[in-house]
Amino acid sequence: MDVNKINCDDFSLADFSAYNGDDLFDVREPFWAFYQDAVAKKYMVYGNPISTAPSSEFEVYDRYLNQDRHFLNFCSYNYLGYSCHPEVIKAVQETVDKYGTGAVSAPLLSGYYNLSKQLEDSIAQFKKKEAAVIFPTGYGANLGVLSCLLKPGDIAIMDILSHASIYDGARLSGADIKMFSHNNAEHLETILKNLSKPHRAIVCIEGIYSMDGDLVNLPDIVAVCKKYGVRILLDEAHATLIFGENGRGVAEHFGLEDEIDLTIGTFSKSFGAIGGFVTGEQKIITYIRMFARSYVFSCAMAPHTAAGILKVLDLYQKDKSYRNKLWENTHYMLNALKKAGLDTGNTESQVIPVIVGHDHRLREISKLIHEKGLYTGVVTYPAVSNKRTRLRLSMSSYHTKEQMDKCLEIIKNAFDAVK
Ligand SMILES: Cc1ncc(COP(=O)(O)O)c(C=O)c1O
Repeated sequence: MDVNKINCDDFSLADFSAYNGDDLFDVREPFWAFYQDAVAKKYMVYGNPISTAPSSEFEVYDRYLNQDRHFLNFCSYNYLGYSCHPEVIKAVQETVDKYGTGAVSAPLLSGYYNLSKQLEDSIAQFKKKEAAVIFPTGYGANLGVLSCLLKPGDIAIMDILSHASIYDGARLSGADIKMFSHNNAEHLETILKNLSKPHRAIVCIEGIYSMDGDLVNLPDIVAVCKKYGVRILLDEAHATLIFGENGRGVAEHFGLEDEIDLTIGTFSKSFGAIGGFVTGEQKIITYIRMFARSYVFSCAMAPHTAAGILKVLDLYQKDKSYRNKLWENTHYMLNALKKAGLDTGNTESQVIPVIVGHDHRLREISKLIHEKGLYTGVVTYPAVSNKRTRLRLSMSSYHTKEQMDKCLEIIKNAFDAVK
């Protein structure tokens, strides 16, 4: 690679993660040349500082104008608007007054506050499971749970579209990793049938797939897992508070909660905060608390975060109107995108991909929508393959019809302009 001649249009991020030089830092020269060219071509429209609350419109720094600008927000995970809810904010503020700003310790040392305990008990009760443990993030929950349960020689079997945290947790454990094609119970069965016995294995799936918004084929996958006697981990990161009559997720939606061994969740999406959790049987949750290294060796959740999440749980259980509004908005937006001839994949949820195709087209499209004042997820490698890049819309209860119409108009014009 001649770093003086790098044209970013000829490269994707995948080229740099695969780059090998004599020195570990050799990658920085070609990558920096790529990055500078992408900045000059106005492709670097993401990763910019936000200066207001993540409501349906917000202010984001525009590096090309060197100032904050107003945008429509279709990218935050604030699905139910709780991060900006006045009662949640009040609960957080009151807790900061009493406890200060952080837990300032790992949980097994001195970071386990009464509010963390209350949150764990409330989440376990909400999820109808014996126990729960809270992690600093959802990423950390998958990482810690899988890496403490699996050992070299064990087998982690996951859907090929699984979130990076599932993959990373399995990889860290040293277990063998096998992937089945997306939502394909027959392929999963072929893998399980061919395992040498005796085996210790866990199948990892997601309630809603994070980049595609489609639902797990839970009935068929559970049936196969039961037939072969393997454990099931279900990540309900995007589905909690959204699916199931009571908001417990896709397992509740399918009536299969009792079949799931471990459920992962996050507080960074519908709960509007930060943190992750795992629920399951008391004994195994206690083991995870003692052995999951991303729990044991990381700072505990701040008490005010726990207080905010507890308030969200309370509000949610009394009033599901935000969720109803989210579904109304999701159906409206999805129908409008489909009617406009855009490819939204197989989504059935508030996570709406608008498939673009190749990386280069995504860059041009994201530049145009940015110019027009729309912020969406811009999803490329390593989150998805280079040929299935996409805009990802995160719907929220707070979007208005006018905002959704404007969003559609901007996307449609950009897709028409860049073929
Ligand atoms: C399926 C899934 N699991 C885990 C996570 C990680 O959650 P967190 O943001 O709390 O680290 C995400 C985040 O996007 C996700 O989509």
